[in-house]
Amino acid sequence: MRVIIVESPQAVAQCAADLVCQQLRQHPDSVLGLATGSTPVALYQALIQRYRSNQLSLSQTTSFNLDEYVGLPPSHPQSYRHFMEEQLFRHTDIDPGKTHVPDGMSDTEQSASAYEQAISDAGGIDLQILGIGQNGHIGFNEPGSSLSSRTRVKTLTPSTLEANRRFFADDEFQPHLAITMGIGTILDCRQVLLLATGKAKAEAIRRCVEGPLSAACPASSLQLHQHATVLVDADAASGLEHSEYYRWCEEQRQRLGHPSGH
Ligand code: GLP
Repeated sequence: MRVIIVESPQAVAQCAADLVCQQLRQHPDSVLGLATGSTPVALYQALIQRYRSNQLSLSQTTSFNLDEYVGLPPSHPQSYRHFMEEQLFRHTDIDPGKTHVPDGMSDTEQSASAYEQAISDAGGIDLQILGIGQNGHIGFNEPGSSLSSRTRVKTLTPSTLEANRRFFADDEFQPHLAITMGIGTILDCRQVLLLATGKAKAEAIRRCVEGPLSAACPASSLQLHQHATVLVDADAASGLEHSEYYRWCEEQRQRLGHPSGH
């Protein structure tokens, strides 16, 4: 696992944008896995800026989002399809026909297997962006999710519902179910980049990077991945026992241009 610790949330966004741009420069037709939540918003703003200044094009890129609420139509302001349109897609040259978000409206069992098939037909995901829940979830894979799970419906935990309550109006329906890529789906991605900022994520990051590999912390499954990068600000890194070593590895990488293994 590569752990990159930078000073601020802004630096997380810029560093993540550098990594995404590097991938797209090498392979403009990459398949990107995208995430929602507040953490990747600054990354999407950085990508939009780079698109506007002609440093980046998404015209050949295909995307697959991690998850979607069950029962919210794509036009609903709290749907993750709507979020992606507003936060990224409509501000760039990505081909709308090549953007995919799970379908939480029709027969979910069928749409889950169709989603897996679509990812496989696209050749698999090259680079998956992830956030992390305070309870260690990735996508909507809540604690206890099978480490080899594929796209399916999950029941959200009360703590996740509470954390995401802020996006819904007081009297608004908040779905308790979501359709999400599984942990197995995420582990199949060729590269994974998990972003976290702020003290509230410090414990989840500690369990993800240094805790035991356990379904109790779905993000710890990334310890099994050959090419996983965890990119955090100083606050989110504050629970890491070996943070000095991670910083030192990155210094060596900069100084010697020598990539330390994941
Ligand atoms: C939601 C999403 C996750 C995201 C998490 C954290 O539950 N399904 O993909 O990582 O929120 O969100 P935030 O970045 O707002 O803390």
